[in-house]
Amino acid sequence: MTVETQRRALAGGEARPKFAHSAEAEFAAFLDFYRIAWEYEPRSFPLRWENGRIVEQFTPDFYLPEQDLYVELTTMKQSLVTRKHRKVRRLKELYPHINIVLLYRKDYHEILSRFGYGSVDITSLRPEQIERVLLSPAEIQRRVAELGKQISEDYAGESLVLVGVLKGITFFLADLARAITRPLAIDYLQLSRDLREGVAIRKDLDLDIRGRHVLLVEDIVNTGLTLDFILRTLREREPASLEVCALLDKAERRLVPVPVKYVGFTIPNEFVVGYGLDYRELYRNLPFICVLKREVYEANGNGYALAQEAGTEALACSATGAPVAVGSG
Ligand code: IMP
Repeated sequence: MTVETQRRALAGGEARPKFAHSAEAEFAAFLDFYRIAWEYEPRSFPLRWENGRIVEQFTPDFYLPEQDLYVELTTMKQSLVTRKHRKVRRLKELYPHINIVLLYRKDYHEILSRFGYGSVDITSLRPEQIERVLLSPAEIQRRVAELGKQISEDYAGESLVLVGVLKGITFFLADLARAITRPLAIDYLQLSRDLREGVAIRKDLDLDIRGRHVLLVEDIVNTGLTLDFILRTLREREPASLEVCALLDKAERRLVPVPVKYVGFTIPNEFVVGYGLDYRELYRNLPFICVLKREVYEANGNGYALAQEAGTEALACSATGAPVAVGSG
């Protein structure tokens, strides 16, 4: 599935609705930035009836299907706020199973925690460093669940060994392993990359994989050189089968053909971080995947090229000025 297919599935389809207020358009743009799916005024709730006829109803501005949540935007104007509060109260009385929040402009960011963005100081990240969110926490979790289901079906009646390549794999492997219902073992490989000596194994597997069904789990496949090296190494150990599951595939960057059976998302050729992926050891803990602004990696000279070509072991200065090692995956 490409990211663009996902994007079209967001926001309820192709056509953008005509918004009644600029605040609504602004909120829709905010939701789009964080890739939160939304529908505009999809449903009206009758609030009062007279002689069997509806005389008052309430149409919340937005519906956010991923959280089954209605959102009514409000301004600071007191008369409006009071009226809206009354409507929301009445709606909750009549439809107790409906979730709705009244949201002030200054509080937009508060709802992000409901969508898995809670663990980072998102307000400071957005303008400073993030070009755009490529995959939201909800999109990642949905796709990981699908992959887990597919893998569980394909390995029916078998057990398997998941091999993760450190360190970018940290969160993906943890989530994927819990989405697979087959019995499995987990092991890790760590590589070192040196511009002169190429790729080598820095930390080898603990398990003997001979005769086992091995699923190699990678964070991102770019040129394919790293994966090609790992596959050649593991094949020599004669596993019963060896397949690859990669969360992200930058297919257009491929230099070596590699067989990737399970792909989370095919993404464009841009440098991405988050959900385990780093730039000079930073950003791994973002719960979403985003494209980093060029300024961030260009502030470190040829950082992008370094990271793209999988780096060296040289010490470098991170975006925050802290010295960190480059190229540990
Ligand atoms: P390849 O050998 O060119 O396929 O590179 C694969 C490795 O490069 C991955 O395992 C990552 O460690 C790193 N890498 C490639 N693209 C990115 C990116 O966009 N963000 C973070 N790391 C990346």
